[in-house]
Amino acid sequence: MIAVIGGTGLSDPALLGSHEIKSILTPYADQEVQLYLVKRGSVPVIFLPRHGREHSCAPHSINYRANIWALREIGVTKILAVNAVGGINENMGPGQIALPKQIIDYSWGREHSFSQHGKVLHIDFTNPYSEPLRASLLAAASALGVSVWPHGVYACTQGPRLETAAEVQRIRRDGGDMIGMTGMPEAALARELDLDYASIAVSVNWAAGLGDEEITLESIVKVLNAAMEKVIGLIDAVVAEAA
Ligand code: HPA
Repeated sequence: MIAVIGGTGLSDPALLGSHEIKSILTPYADQEVQLYLVKRGSVPVIFLPRHGREHSCAPHSINYRANIWALREIGVTKILAVNAVGGINENMGPGQIALPKQIIDYSWGREHSFSQHGKVLHIDFTNPYSEPLRASLLAAASALGVSVWPHGVYACTQGPRLETAAEVQRIRRDGGDMIGMTGMPEAALARELDLDYASIAVSVNWAAGLGDEEITLESIVKVLNAAMEKVIGLIDAVVAEAA
């Protein structure tokens, strides 16, 4: 089964149609993780809004371990993660969708491994995203005529504040093409549990110091809402192909 992890702009399960709630207890939280079973076409898909359905959980406070564990527990094998990003690379202007290939992790203090409980997991993370899933997304994009940039290094910052201009320049020198706050440890935890994982990254602003306008939540949400139809189109095409 495929899961969609929705980020900013994709938190309301109603965006994916009517749903049934599945509550999953995990070893990583007292509270159950709420997963939403939706149907895309006739195919069941699990939806998980990582910030909560009210968009109230900040990137550093998300219980990534409970989320990924719950997805595996319910039978998910593939994850399409939607991530809002700020663009650094000239190809990553607001509204652009990317399928990043690599990650640099600048986040800290997050529970980032299942290893603490049981055997030590030295996963191979050379290529952090699933190539077959990226290929399916790319094929869907060309069939639908949606422009996606199938490259790029996703830099994960801690947030919830945005970066300083100097931090963005440092990340650019490091090779970062886009910046988000939620790509890690989500991707690594998925790999630890052997789940295929790819990101649909949506640029919602130029990263700090690179654009003319102030970055506001309103402007971010506006760009995201405009891109969401394309994102859902890509998800639907991959879900239909995998069914
Ligand atoms: N930086 C980090 N995360 C983000 C940004 C940004 O500029 N835009 C959307 N998520």
